[in-house]
Amino acid sequence: MPELQTDVAIVGAGPAGLMLAHLLHNAGIDSVVVDNRSHDDIAHTHRAGILEAASVRMLAADGIDSRVLSEGHRHDGIDIRIDGISHPLDFPTLVGESVWLYPQNEIFVDLAAARARTSRPTFFSVADTRLGDIDTAHPWVRATTAGGEDLHVGARYVVGADGSRGPCRGMIPAETRQKFFHEYPFAWFGILCEAPPSHEVLIYSRSERGFALISQRSDTVQRMYFQTPPDTDVADWSDDRIWAELQARVAGPDGFELRTGPIIDKTVLPFRSAVHEPMQHGSLFLAGDSAHTVPPTGAKGLNLAFADVSVLAPALIAAFRDSDAEALAGYSRTAAARVWKAQNFSYQMTRMLHSDPGQDAFEARRSLGELTSMLESVHGRRYLAECYTGWPETSPSTTDRPAPEQTAGRSPERKA
Ligand code: PHB
Repeated sequence: MPELQTDVAIVGAGPAGLMLAHLLHNAGIDSVVVDNRSHDDIAHTHRAGILEAASVRMLAADGIDSRVLSEGHRHDGIDIRIDGISHPLDFPTLVGESVWLYPQNEIFVDLAAARARTSRPTFFSVADTRLGDIDTAHPWVRATTAGGEDLHVGARYVVGADGSRGPCRGMIPAETRQKFFHEYPFAWFGILCEAPPSHEVLIYSRSERGFALISQRSDTVQRMYFQTPPDTDVADWSDDRIWAELQARVAGPDGFELRTGPIIDKTVLPFRSAVHEPMQHGSLFLAGDSAHTVPPTGAKGLNLAFADVSVLAPALIAAFRDSDAEALAGYSRTAAARVWKAQNFSYQMTRMLHSDPGQDAFEARRSLGELTSMLESVHGRRYLAECYTGWPETSPSTTDRPAPEQTAGRSPERKA
């Protein structure tokens, strides 16, 4: 039976777990990573594709060699369409930042390769993952390896980066754990298609038929979504019907037309907001989806997971290097402050852009008033741009973003 002793046992080899493992490794701190999914499962799961500049800066850490700068695309804005009228937001002008389009599964591939180069263990395809003694300084993680052996990892700390269905969150005692939950009365129908991009930037469209998002993946593959009832069956949606619906939701007096092509993937995505607090107990710390889920409208899921890691990694490093556990003690409070900003933005974008089948006519018009008052004010546009590109730092206190002139040029440069 493999018995391993490490500094940090990380449950979950998605982007959050592997990014943490990498930052710790760079600081000379050892980790063992386990995941019940296979490498290929994670590499082929389609998730969102927008990275805040701060997330890109994290991927630029020593030794990751991410292709984000060479193969990703910098996006300097988004287009918000209301009943066919375009309202472009230019992020560099508004807040001196940009975002990057680079799919989450590619980030995983980059991070998994970086991890493999460290020769430290990552166990994919494990079963029956358990953890224990999190109230002590000797917590452990056990699992059955892909080869059927018992794996026992002893550690000083355990990090649960194991998604919304993993075992870690449930280890925080029920009497200290609070769950905040919001359900939305719709889902997203997502497609991948073989077509060129329809526009330079992503289009978020509010229309009488409901919301649509025209996103991208590469020069030849595009990702698009439209709001749909949660009980939608993909089998009811032929390619022709999907294209007609998407086109109807973006059509306008400018004659804008989507570039279409064969649809290679169709999925209905659930839509909910959840936060579990505290994000820590004893020697256990949660990061990413294991502690919070956001609706995809604000593209915050992965960025929040990285933001958690950007707080947790230095806190763990201080605890190991300087025996200073103060930052670690405040981890949940610091990370949750940003989580709630992202929940608010995702909720707000969702409410402003979707039509709720159960809502009264007053609410439908009010949410349109909210959206137009944001878009017609430079303060509102700057607010949306700041939320979308990501708040400058993760801190429980409110700090002002530096003026655009000061931040211009902070975005990672794209490699030629
Ligand atoms: C995506 O490309 O999958 C995507 C982009 C932006 C969002 C949500 C999803 O807000």
